[in-house]
Amino acid sequence: MNEKKHWDQLAPEYNNEIFDAYASDKFKKLPRYINKHGSPIKTAIDFGCGNGKSFPYLAPAFKSVLGVDISKRLLKQAAALNFKNVTLKAHDVTRKPQVPKADFAFCCNVVMFPDFDKNIKAFQNIARALKPGGTALLVLPSLDSALFSAWQLIQMYKNEGVKAAHIPAHEFHFKGNMRNILQGIVHIDNVPTKHYSASELEVILPQAGFTITNLEKLEYDWNTELANPPKNLGAPYPWDWLVEVRA
Ligand SMILES: C[S@@+](CC[C@H](N)C(=O)[O-])C[C@H]1O[C@@H](n2cnc3c(N)ncnc32)[C@H](O)[C@@H]1O
Repeated sequence: MNEKKHWDQLAPEYNNEIFDAYASDKFKKLPRYINKHGSPIKTAIDFGCGNGKSFPYLAPAFKSVLGVDISKRLLKQAAALNFKNVTLKAHDVTRKPQVPKADFAFCCNVVMFPDFDKNIKAFQNIARALKPGGTALLVLPSLDSALFSAWQLIQMYKNEGVKAAHIPAHEFHFKGNMRNILQGIVHIDNVPTKHYSASELEVILPQAGFTITNLEKLEYDWNTELANPPKNLGAPYPWDWLVEVRA
């Protein structure tokens, strides 16, 4: 997939089409983690900043913030937010960073390429962009959550007397062959998107040069996953992985 073309094309409809992790963060964990690492003498980089949804959190918490993204059209929207201590740069996270090393890196729903080697390169590049001992906060799609949401969908149909075998295939995000599913490829709006198991992250993040310091759920309401969830559908909620790592 050509990410630059894909995201540039999506840019005009970005706010309508793309999931907003900050608004959906049910227990407001993102601002808590950002503030935990923020400091008026520290610098931050947001890898894949999109149109700058993280800036209202990062900009007040850090001395300066560098937002990088592959899409120039999204960077233009981010620039219009006009945060005084934020600078922007077009950059592909799968390529070596050519930026001053930062104290903190943030990367929310970016490292989810269907090409596995690209994900490893992106993690390595985020690690390279940090000062020794610096922290990165990563938000990554969860395979476990996608499977659990599919299970909840099956329960909803069952309650209406429909067997799993009779649920229309388009209701599920899993497409293609079994090997795709086993490798964590889930289709979101028909885009193959890498989803991770926690155990996989425990293997690959250290290989990319990180020590995991926290791995927890970033939870969202059920209406982010299911079209008409029953009103009483509560915890466990669907989630992304929220991973705090040290370089
Ligand atoms: C789902 S959006 C998330 C945006 C933002 N992090 C947020 O949470 O609002 C994915 C972002 O990753 C960017 N992106 C995709 N591939 C990239 C790459 N190879 N290098 C840098 N940015 C990339 C896209 O342009 C888009 O802004």
